[in-house]
Amino acid sequence: MISFDRTHQRFHLCAHGVSYVFQIMDGYPLHLYWGRLLSALRGSAGPLFVKRSFAPYADPGHPEFSLATLPQEYPAYGSGDFRHPAYQVQFENGSTVSDMRYTGHRIYRGKKKLRGLPATYAEDDREAQSLDIFLQDDGGGLQATLTYTVFRDFGIIARSVRFTNGGTAPIRLLRGLSTSIDFRDGRFDLLSCYGSHNNERNISRHPLSREMQVIESRRGASSPQHDPFFALLRERTDEDHGEVYGFSLVYSGNFCAQVEMDAYRTVRASIGMGPFDFSWKLGPSESFQTPEAVMVYSDQGLGGMSRTYNRFYRTHLARGRYRDQLRPILVNSWEATYFRLNERKLLAIAAEAGKLGIELFVLDDGWFGRRDNDRSSLGDWTVDRRKLPHGLGWLSERIHGLGLKFGLWFEPEMVSPDSDLYRAHPDWCLHVPNRQRTLSRNQLVLDLSRADVRGYLIQALTAVLRSADINYVKWDMNRHMTEIGSAQLPADRQRETAHRYILGLYELIEALTSRFPDVLFENCSSGGGRFDPGMLYYMPQSWTSDNTDAVCRLKIQYGTSLLYPAIAIGAHVSAVPNHQIGRVTSLGTRGHAAMSGNFGYELDLTRLTDQEKKAVGKQIAFYKEIRPLIQFGDFYRIENPFESNTAAWCFVASDKSETAGFFFEILADPARPLHTFQFKGLDPHALYEDAATGSTIGGDELMYAGLAVPAGKGDFRSAVWHFRKKKG
Ligand code: DGJ
Repeated sequence: MISFDRTHQRFHLCAHGVSYVFQIMDGYPLHLYWGRLLSALRGSAGPLFVKRSFAPYADPGHPEFSLATLPQEYPAYGSGDFRHPAYQVQFENGSTVSDMRYTGHRIYRGKKKLRGLPATYAEDDREAQSLDIFLQDDGGGLQATLTYTVFRDFGIIARSVRFTNGGTAPIRLLRGLSTSIDFRDGRFDLLSCYGSHNNERNISRHPLSREMQVIESRRGASSPQHDPFFALLRERTDEDHGEVYGFSLVYSGNFCAQVEMDAYRTVRASIGMGPFDFSWKLGPSESFQTPEAVMVYSDQGLGGMSRTYNRFYRTHLARGRYRDQLRPILVNSWEATYFRLNERKLLAIAAEAGKLGIELFVLDDGWFGRRDNDRSSLGDWTVDRRKLPHGLGWLSERIHGLGLKFGLWFEPEMVSPDSDLYRAHPDWCLHVPNRQRTLSRNQLVLDLSRADVRGYLIQALTAVLRSADINYVKWDMNRHMTEIGSAQLPADRQRETAHRYILGLYELIEALTSRFPDVLFENCSSGGGRFDPGMLYYMPQSWTSDNTDAVCRLKIQYGTSLLYPAIAIGAHVSAVPNHQIGRVTSLGTRGHAAMSGNFGYELDLTRLTDQEKKAVGKQIAFYKEIRPLIQFGDFYRIENPFESNTAAWCFVASDKSETAGFFFEILADPARPLHTFQFKGLDPHALYEDAATGSTIGGDELMYAGLAVPAGKGDFRSAVWHFRKKKG
């Protein structure tokens, strides 16, 4: 999969239909090609040496060899490249100029772990091959290892960088991105995701412009505002055709992605940890590991890119016992009770849930300290006996007795000023001496860069998780960082705080998930506010959005599917009028939207009418039928709710033996077109049987002719079809 042509000093990485080629010239790794598989690259795409005005050069005999124009793998600052650099350091003499050159390389089977950071993995050394490129700056003692991994079964290139101070004086790392690629032309559209609380992962697509495009978070978390992801698409690329280059970062904190077109329309694209307000002091022999960037090339449109990310992240990023297990259908107490909970109410909901076939009851916020509203108690992880006089052990036993598993909500990273924890340890939160401590949702952020804070949280959560039979944890995080400073770090390391926090978070979650391997952990940040590949490594599913309105969810889940598999996308049926936006949709449409992900309910089941209970029972039975298909199948987007009045998609089993198609019409239309649902991804030569009617239809017909969507009146209508391949 990785070869080295010694004569031309050229590396060729290839896997699953994709080639990636670069070459060492004068010690610089120069990027040559990334795209469809090549048998070999024999020179057609060698670097083009063009002498340009204002392009500096080191060798007067070769003025065309200029870093200002050459396509590079990991560009530096200071020796003639005026485009944005992939990294920057400051040496003890104050200079920020560096010049790392190739000193050697190593090709090996498998993939190494990244110390302290989440990353994709190979379970078996035969699945992947890696390449380390060693670089060194002779002047200042800086060394770096560029690591590349290719996977046998995926069109993926994973990249990360490790910096080491090989000198005797400290070096300050100011910027260390995970990957940088120079494309030869600028005929691309830039696609990225943006949003906010209740409105995550909208899709933005526009032609590349001459101005630098930056996608970043400076909030201390990956954030709902922007995803640590972007893609470059050829202008005519659509959902099913054309070339796409995807860049995704496995990290949960500040990040930065940049796309810069120069005067000659070459494009530099990069992604990595955010350099904003960051620096890291590297003492002699110390190293710094960047997060990993996962790059996907697809020539089958956005859909091809998404299916690669979906499957790869489901099988080579998410981990643990639940990775390959069907996930339980749950009911969550939040929208049913908010903070006004008691044993009687919770058990009544659980009893109803048990009768309906729900498998997990989740007790959300409000069970601990004296948490009657969001103004107190975060940090005090002991059960509130006023609300739950018999304690969690008793409650969990009762819930298990009703045939359900039991789950519990925590927000471990936070502290309320009105809490015993804060009164005892006011210096345990992120803060800057003599400055105000700015609140958000009435809370402060615990300083997870501190070992004592992490130690407290491990002990507090362990005590709760051992006090009862708890099978699931919803790990919430509801504010971003302000006054970012740590009482434990010296002045010259304060700008390390935000990254040290994320490293501390990862260490904390690693400790808890290893200690409780049977507990299913769900990631949440006011919904999908930290839904990123870094968190997916530790927690195999995420609450996608606090917005449970079925129509809003069509877009939110559509955008989320660009990268993430349906099994990771928590989606619940909630009450109407919807609590976030007030819309009324039918139970059927709410069910179909939620079934398109990791299914559950978020309402007071005791308030349903008998007819509604019957319908919910049917939804649950149907989801159980299609659950393996939804959770382990491939996802095909068919109609885009960002662009039309309809949304449609289908799930297809990996062996094409089964499919479920979902169709949604958002607003009633007096001039309603005749809608046809055309499946994708089926076996055109097979016959499929409609699981509802028993009628048979060819895979070719389902895809090319399609099914007529029944007409009807009213807003927010939906339909579903389920087909199984006929045997023989
Ligand atoms: C935000 C979450 O996204 C909600 O689901 C709920 O858990 C609340 N926090 C509780 O405070």
